[in-house]
Amino acid sequence: MDKLIIQGGNRLSGEVTISGAKNAALPILCASLLAETPLKLSSVAALKDIDTTIKLLDMMGVKIARDADEVSLDASDVQSFEATYEMVKTMRASILVLGPLLARFGTARVSLPGGCAIGSRPVDLHIKGLQAMGAAIHITHGYIQASTLHLPNRRLQGTRYYMDLVTVTGTENLMMAAALAEGKTILENAAKEPEVVDLAECLIKMGANITGAGTDVITIIGVEKLKGADHNIVCDRIEAGTYMVAAAMTGGEVKLKNARADLLDAVIEKLRDAGAEVKVSKVENTITVKSDGKLKAVNIRTAPHPAFPTDMQAQFMALNVVAEGVAKVTETIFENRFMHVQEMQRLGADISIDGNTALVKGVEFLDGATVMATDLRASASLVLAGLVARGETVIERIYHLDRGYEHLEAKFNALGANVKRV
Ligand code: UD1
Repeated sequence: MDKLIIQGGNRLSGEVTISGAKNAALPILCASLLAETPLKLSSVAALKDIDTTIKLLDMMGVKIARDADEVSLDASDVQSFEATYEMVKTMRASILVLGPLLARFGTARVSLPGGCAIGSRPVDLHIKGLQAMGAAIHITHGYIQASTLHLPNRRLQGTRYYMDLVTVTGTENLMMAAALAEGKTILENAAKEPEVVDLAECLIKMGANITGAGTDVITIIGVEKLKGADHNIVCDRIEAGTYMVAAAMTGGEVKLKNARADLLDAVIEKLRDAGAEVKVSKVENTITVKSDGKLKAVNIRTAPHPAFPTDMQAQFMALNVVAEGVAKVTETIFENRFMHVQEMQRLGADISIDGNTALVKGVEFLDGATVMATDLRASASLVLAGLVARGETVIERIYHLDRGYEHLEAKFNALGANVKRV
C-alpha cells in the first residue's frame, strides 16, 4: 500500500492551480443518466472517486469517453438500473444514481451505504423525498428497491418536501429526480453548497427548469425530457482551502489559480483571524495567502454552507495545533469526525475531546512520526501537520487522499514541499 513520506520544515511559495470540485463532479456525472444525448464535461479531476463513478455508470451502459480532464457521457442506451453493494461501499456518493435512474427509467436498485469512518450517515431523507414524489420504495436485502411503475405515465409527481436536516447529496438527488417529474417540486431547507448550485446550472443547460439553487428553497418544474450539454465543473473550494492553510502554517506565500474566493468566505475570514494575509482577485479568480508562520488560535464551528465547512475542520485543527493560544473546534455535521485527533497527538499535538468539541492548545513544534490516514479530510490534515513537523512524517493508507486531491505530491512539491510517495 502506498505511503507518503514528508520531510517537514519547508516554507511553501509559488502558484498552484486548483482542480475541478470532486463534490460537484460526482452528482453531475450521475446527472448524465437523465439525458438522452451526450453530456460533455470539462475540469473533471483525476481522482479515485471520479474513476469509481465512471465505472458505476459504465456498468449501467453509459458510453463514456475520457480525455485528460474532459469526459463525455452518453446515456442513450442504459441497460442496468443497479448500484451494487460493492460499488456503494467503496463510495457513498454512488447513492446519487438513485434519483436520476428512478426519474428517467422508473426503476432503480441501489445498495444502502451503511456506516462510514466519520459517522452513521443515513440516507433516509433521500428515500423520504422520493416517496413524497410518489415512488414506491422497499428496503430488502440491504438494497433500496424503487419504482414509479404504478404512477401516471410512470413519472414521479412534483411535491413540496421539507428536509428536516440540511443534506447536500440528498438535495442533489431530489433535485435531479424532480427535474424529470410531472409538475412542480419545492425543496425546502435545501443545501446551499456551491456544488448544489453547479449541479443546478448544469441541469438548466440540459433543459431543466430550476430556480432558487443556492438558497434554501429550490423550485423545480419537471420537464418530459432532458438533453446533453457542455459544462465546466466549478473549482474545488476544499482543495483550495487546504492549500491556503498549508501556506499559512508554513509561513509561506502561495497564489491559488482557478480559486473562487466567493465560495470560501468563512474559511478566508478564519485565516485572517489567525493572522494570515489573504488577497483576492475576483477578476483573475486568484487567492494569495501570505503569512510569517506565527498564527493565532481560531475557534471553529462547522455548519452547512455558507458557514464553516465540515470538510475544512480537520485542516484548521492542524493549524490550531501549532498556533498560539487555545481554540475550540466544534463539529456539528458528523458525529465521529475527530479521527485525525489521535494521529495528531502522535505528532505531539495537545488536544482533548469533549463530545463534539475539541479543545486544542497550540504547541511550539510537532515531531514527525508514523500516522495513519482514516478518511479524506483527516488525511489532508495529517499532510499539513507533516509539512511543519520536525523531521520525517510517514502517512499510511493514503488511498483516502487519492479519492479527493488531484496530484497532491506534485502540487505540494512544486510549492517547495518535500513529499514522496513510496
Ligand atoms: C456531502 C459531501 C461531503 C461533506 C458533506 C457535508 C459529497 C459527495 N459529499 O456529503 O464531502 O462532508 O456533504 O457538507 O458531496 N443525513 C441524514 N439523513 C440523510 C442525509 C443526511 O441524517 O438522508 C445527515 C448526515 O448523517 C449528516 C448530515 O445529515 O449528519 C449532513 O450530511 P449530508 O449533507 O447528506 O452529507 P453528504 O451529502 O453525504
